[in-house]
Amino acid sequence: MNTMTQNPRRRNGHAASTRTWSPQSWQALPAAQQPQYDDAVALQQALEELSRLPPLVTSWEILALKQQLAEAQEGRRFLLQAGDCAESFADCASPRISNQLKVLLQMSLVLVHGLQMPVVRVGRFAGQYAKPRSADTETRGDLALPSYRGDNVNGIEFDAAARRADPRRLVLGHMHSALTLNFVRALTEGGFADLHHPEYWDLAWVEHSPHAAEYRRIVADIGDAVRFMETLAGGPLASFSRVEFYTSHEALLLYAEQALTREVPRQSGWFNLSTHLPWIGMRTAAPGGAHAEYFRGIRNPIAVKVGPEVKADQLLRLIDLLNPANEPGRLTLIHRMGAARIADALPALLQAVRAEGRRVLWVCDPMHGNGETLPNGVKTRRFANIRSEIEQSFEVHAAAGTRLGGVHLELTGENVTECLGGARGLDESDLARDYRSTVDPRLNYEQSLELALTVVQRVRQNSAAATQR
Ligand code: PEP
Ligand code: CO
Repeated sequence: MNTMTQNPRRRNGHAASTRTWSPQSWQALPAAQQPQYDDAVALQQALEELSRLPPLVTSWEILALKQQLAEAQEGRRFLLQAGDCAESFADCASPRISNQLKVLLQMSLVLVHGLQMPVVRVGRFAGQYAKPRSADTETRGDLALPSYRGDNVNGIEFDAAARRADPRRLVLGHMHSALTLNFVRALTEGGFADLHHPEYWDLAWVEHSPHAAEYRRIVADIGDAVRFMETLAGGPLASFSRVEFYTSHEALLLYAEQALTREVPRQSGWFNLSTHLPWIGMRTAAPGGAHAEYFRGIRNPIAVKVGPEVKADQLLRLIDLLNPANEPGRLTLIHRMGAARIADALPALLQAVRAEGRRVLWVCDPMHGNGETLPNGVKTRRFANIRSEIEQSFEVHAAAGTRLGGVHLELTGENVTECLGGARGLDESDLARDYRSTVDPRLNYEQSLELALTVVQRVRQNSAAATQR
């Protein structure tokens, strides 16, 4: 548990912004990674429609999540934030959504059982439709077209019409998010997420997994515990028939985020009601940029991706801007350094944040620093590197006296072959078998479960070591 309870000392040059905030004040600052729309009238119409449509989430859900993240900061919960790199409109379909929930449920159960604490489940879903890109254009042969920026912006097909940024897609994105979330809410309200019926949320390929036996043992243990509790209580406990899921996405397209930023009755301030936990991506996290400006004024819990180039000074400036009152649960920092760089890059950041008394939730994203492109052009990630970054994270936090309070993953409940390795030892020839991602490679079902088991092992080893010290 960390000791960041005192008021923050604000250092010279780290003063929070004195600019007056409004949902549109970001427009005065440079906004990276925004699409170029060629029809200003159509954009305006789409934004007006978006700002009239009902929101996706409520302020009280958002504040409940903030409270749970505050508890995670204190070491009383663990955050599992996971899902696709990018959702697509075509994938807004029943099996994909229910498989995504199933794998998240199964992983969270492994974590709850192994860590003996509640898990906060946050999906990268119901709005993860916009992607930052390293290049504005993509060239094939002698044709250069705008890069694909996610279904909220343009189409993936490599032709000029599809790649044009179309503002109607913002409205379609909102609708697909609503359809997704509606189904998630229906499934998790009862029945499907019922702890009495884990067979409902078994994926078809559980039984073939190298981890099947261990997973089944955990499920049986939990079943025993539930029955024991119900015997004690003298009847069924309603809380065992529903499971909480929260939503998150990278809040990249600021016009669209602004249109979903609302005031609500009986609460002060502004909420982004398109998602519970919006995050700022690594490429848009400059303290002087439009994204930081937009985020500082909303009341949601927020997260920021922190890459290996970030210096302690810059991080402290960002923290001052985004959480000047050191509010519990407000700020999650997701470090994504890469297995090769984490040991060098992370310690100074942890020490600086700790020394300044900043209250943050530290989370490890072991995916985005470990991408590689094979000689045949296929993008992949090695399971060994992903696992290593998680393991190193636990070490580095233990050495700094801080706590790793969660993981942020790209995964799918489908049986894809996009990342190399894992217990089944997927190799380069396997990747061709079922590679579906149009953006980053995701862990498949078995690899995801294996990673959850790795987290449990690592936490247990660390706490055993701490007791011996
Ligand atoms: C992502 O989460 O898909 C992403 C683009 O991450 P990052 O901003 O950390 O590169
Ligand atoms: Co990604």
